[in-house]
Amino acid sequence: MQLNDLSNTNNIESEAWQVLENSILYYQGRPIGTLAAYDPSVEALNYDQCFIRDFVSSALIFLIKGRTDIVRNFLEETLKLQPKERALDAYKPARGLIPASFKVLSSNGEEYLEADFGEQAIARVTPVDSCLWWLILLRAYVVATQDFSLVYQTDFQVGIRLIMEICLANRFDMYPTLLVPDGACMIDRRMGIHGHPLEIQVLFFAALRAARELLICRGNEDIVAAIDNRLPLLCGHIRQHYWIDIHRLNTIYRFKGEEYGKAAVNLFNIYADSLPYYELDKWLPKKGGYLAGNVGPSQLDTRFFTLGNLMAVICDLSTAVQSQAIMTLIEERWEDLVGDMPMKICFPALEHEEYRVVTGCDPKNIPWSYHNGGNWPVLMWMLAVASVKTNKVYLAQRAVEIAESRLSEDEWPEYYDGKKGRLIGKQARKYQTWTIAGYLLAKELAENHNYLPLISFEQLPAELISRACEFELKSVDGYMP
Ligand code: GLC
Repeated sequence: MQLNDLSNTNNIESEAWQVLENSILYYQGRPIGTLAAYDPSVEALNYDQCFIRDFVSSALIFLIKGRTDIVRNFLEETLKLQPKERALDAYKPARGLIPASFKVLSSNGEEYLEADFGEQAIARVTPVDSCLWWLILLRAYVVATQDFSLVYQTDFQVGIRLIMEICLANRFDMYPTLLVPDGACMIDRRMGIHGHPLEIQVLFFAALRAARELLICRGNEDIVAAIDNRLPLLCGHIRQHYWIDIHRLNTIYRFKGEEYGKAAVNLFNIYADSLPYYELDKWLPKKGGYLAGNVGPSQLDTRFFTLGNLMAVICDLSTAVQSQAIMTLIEERWEDLVGDMPMKICFPALEHEEYRVVTGCDPKNIPWSYHNGGNWPVLMWMLAVASVKTNKVYLAQRAVEIAESRLSEDEWPEYYDGKKGRLIGKQARKYQTWTIAGYLLAKELAENHNYLPLISFEQLPAELISRACEFELKSVDGYMP
């Protein structure tokens, strides 16, 4: 892959690069990550740490610019933080997990890293997404550098295997999706996304695909077979059960309940009365559609979650037709989903009693703020990749232009509030690193499409796709291509 240099940047971009440079975290003299934010005006809490999910945005732009050393150091050091033994104490992180964040400390002049697996985090949330992002980034590093020697090292092979073991372990439920607690991802506060949230399932799918590419088969035959078994089922399950468009809404609207046995159509016993179907009838464009936020027993969360939908397009979890429909929805509902800052983390916000019950009266997640319908500039790079991938580059360009007109002037806030995203987030940090990296990445990816393979996946291999299709054919709706 052709890597770029820093010439030809405009003023906002050079400022962004400067701030990104200042956020680099050093350990024993080597750059190993970036701080979440550097905003001296607000109490740091844990924003002075390097978050795994936040670093992915910085890492991708570093890879594009040839700064591969930081990414390699990050991958090596975070791998060392992964527990390799079974935890004897239930309060300790499980074997295979990658922490949410880490920081550099020193004692007697010796630097060391301290990891947070959620045991110190607000509300003690489990960072399920960290190990998934870690794998996705490891693959991006290999794509950018073609350096397979790193990933073929024993410690890396063991690390990948341990992540796969924890993800693929048998649990109580019998779905191909991953069962997780609330707040297990970027949305790391209570938001009613426990169970099988799209935000995690899509990263899980991408991580399985990355592991499949990176694992040496010899000695790992059992894991490779488990991945090959899981991928088509997971893919078919999401494509079928999470999909919402007007056709599907019609089917759900007329669903019968209480169906028992193998011939059931309404598998999850969804009651239309639990859905805002009149609003959806108005909101869904004729040709648009999206993947629902969550599916479970008598549960269909019809909120639109941006990371899940965009990453589904990027890692080819959605079918080509569904990907087009997702991007059509974003285009046609631009005012709701993008507004004055790309782009909303989810839509619509939880309001009134629902807000109180679901968030636990979280004052940070009041309607149209933060995770509850706030606008997060970091999501812009995913919008850019998904737009390019679906031949709608103009959407990426439009988003970058909107962001460019405000971000630097507003001092790179973490998020924006309000239905249109015009208010700087009530408790937003300024100089938030993934805001800066997200902007730089979006701009770069919208201009240079040859960087797409860093993060984007092609269709599943033919033999797996045929199994996913078998599953799809069972769909009674006929909305599948
Ligand atoms: C907040 C966000 C989380 C992010 C962290 C650091 O906790 O919810 O997604 O990783 O800040 O920026």
